[in-house]
Amino acid sequence: MLILGVESSCDETSVAIVRDGKEVLSNVVISQIDIHTKFGGVVPEVASRNHVYQVGLVFEEAFKKANILPKDIDYVAVTYAPGLIGSLLVGLTAAKTFALIHNKPLVAIHHLAGHIYANAIEHVMKFPAIALIVSGGNTELVYMKDNYEFEIIGETYDDAVGESYDKVARVLGLGYPGGPVVDKLARTGNITYKLPKPYVDGYNFSFSGLKSAVINLVHNEEQRGNEIRKADLAASFQDVVTEILVNKTFMAAKDYNCQNIIVAGGVSANSGLKERFNKNNSFNYNINIPSIKYCTDNAAMIAVAAYYKLQKKEDLADLTLNAYANMELH
Ligand code: KG4
Repeated sequence: MLILGVESSCDETSVAIVRDGKEVLSNVVISQIDIHTKFGGVVPEVASRNHVYQVGLVFEEAFKKANILPKDIDYVAVTYAPGLIGSLLVGLTAAKTFALIHNKPLVAIHHLAGHIYANAIEHVMKFPAIALIVSGGNTELVYMKDNYEFEIIGETYDDAVGESYDKVARVLGLGYPGGPVVDKLARTGNITYKLPKPYVDGYNFSFSGLKSAVINLVHNEEQRGNEIRKADLAASFQDVVTEILVNKTFMAAKDYNCQNIIVAGGVSANSGLKERFNKNNSFNYNINIPSIKYCTDNAAMIAVAAYYKLQKKEDLADLTLNAYANMELH
């Protein structure tokens, strides 16, 4: 089964062709990071316009790389929620146009399901599982009783973890996106700053207090004319974040009697998070984390999610499918 995937929910335009939910024949990703860096974050209107410029080119490149003709495609899978509405609409319109012209069935994919199923490219995903989704817009713990069944058991009350990484990076003058830079810097520092550990109820998260503590600390030190040890602060911040994420995930896995853990989303690229999951794995959980190229937004994960959604005999979408900025994973 050949599935064409289309993803444009934020600032990456991506088209992929995947065979049988596993073999990635092409996964073309054009990132707009360089464009948004100068604004210190993604500017939605700029992102939509750039998707429009790039989407045709990305389609062509994906077919060329895969050496596949449009008529060979069995299904078209597209991210329809959540994300920046203008960005989503560009990919959705392109996918629907392709489906209409070539008379192909359409599969609607939730962006976070895509992140979860990025793991199926390189691992065999087993259920029941606890999925930790950590990205720029979301921090959630999801119980998956079986394939393509999602029950949100915990989420952030305020900032997503990627968002707090980006804001910490900004106050330290490290640019955008902040996650990879803070992660790299943290590896060279020591945990010497004392930061609050925001443990909130159950499987929920809260990162805004921690982020504000870092911002206040930087401002106070600057006012006193003290030097900020950026690497140490990055290491101290990363230590708190990864401790909370790993502890809560293990707690959920234990409570829900799950031997399988799935880590998904942009922040799953974090080296400290991976290290901590492996080091603290005293119950020998089967932990799946995607390789870096599948952690951040890409269309291969959307095509793979569609493959598993189809196994579930879920309804197909049609050309009336709309995009939604907000939608819970279901
Ligand atoms: O999943 P993603 O590509 O886009 C969303 O759907 O949000 O995640 C992007 C987020 C950004 O906030 C970025 O700073 C963060 O993932 N990120 C990281 C790392 N790599 C990307 N955060 C921490 N450590 C990293 N290595």
